[in-house]
Amino acid sequence: MIVRARACANIALVKYWGKRDSALNLPAAGSLSVTLAALVTETTVEFDRALGRDEVSLIPNAPGARPFADTDPRVSAFLDVVRARAGISAFARVHSLNRFPTASGLASSASGFAALALAASRAAGLALSPRELSVLARRGSGSAARSVFGGFVRMHAGTRVDGSDAFAEPIASPLAARLRVVIAIVGGGAHKPFGSRDAMAHTAETSPLYRDWLALVPRDLAAAEAALATGDLAALGAIAEGNALAMHATAIAARPAIVYWQPPTLALLAAVRALRDAGRAAYATIDAGPHVKVVTSAEDAAPVAAALRAIDGVTAVAVSELGPGAEVIA
Ligand code: PMV
Repeated sequence: MIVRARACANIALVKYWGKRDSALNLPAAGSLSVTLAALVTETTVEFDRALGRDEVSLIPNAPGARPFADTDPRVSAFLDVVRARAGISAFARVHSLNRFPTASGLASSASGFAALALAASRAAGLALSPRELSVLARRGSGSAARSVFGGFVRMHAGTRVDGSDAFAEPIASPLAARLRVVIAIVGGGAHKPFGSRDAMAHTAETSPLYRDWLALVPRDLAAAEAALATGDLAALGAIAEGNALAMHATAIAARPAIVYWQPPTLALLAAVRALRDAGRAAYATIDAGPHVKVVTSAEDAAPVAAALRAIDGVTAVAVSELGPGAEVIA
């Protein structure tokens, strides 16, 4: 059986940065995100007893780039989890395509592993509940557990050693219709100097600020959930910006330092502050790379996008609404 599924990427407003168990990908703390309609991955999976290995083609999101079929250790390790659970041994053919708005260099393990979890589990004959799917997607990447759901999403750190209570779930909010995220892509930087997996471990081991970071996250989560409940965009945005800067401060303090920012990243942060001073809703967040995502409102999205586009070193800008959860497609 061939199954095709799609999932959107998400951006964390309260970040996941550190694990309590790296084998099972268990987060050290909770996190909170918004799923983005503009960043979609589509993945097709078919298990086939005739295959001698998993064949993975990640169709690159770049003009003129050609798809390739290869092995991928992270994808195969994830498929091993699915095979063990379903009691099958066949290898799989996996095709994955990022339908991102531009050739941005944005790669998303969140949308990728959420779509793979859904397509692979169904193709293997499993019918998982959304919560079970979230637990499974987490094995591929921590942030993928959140991309199983649409809109605003909270991830639970859980306490069990088997990880069965480390799952995500959606949170309703009056902000769901109004919130927009402007994605500003910074070009020219070194591509992924440190992957999030290694960078988190290095931060936890060496950063003198890591304990403070872990103490901050529950406070930011509680404040973000309160802002979502009351529909307070300014409060939510301020928490998101402060939390992202705290995550980066923790990583920057690691020894040796982990610095994801490029000069345009700082220019974007300054532009966001200037937009706020001019009365716009604009709050920045940054993941494990130089790009900046700006939380704003439907009314302010166009002027915010225009201001970010004018910055030197910004190669693409896209506006996103909240996206849906992972789904099987025809
Ligand atoms: O899911 P991972 O292992 O790619 O880690 C995600 C890390 C951040 O994007 C920086 C934060 C987050 O919560 O998404």
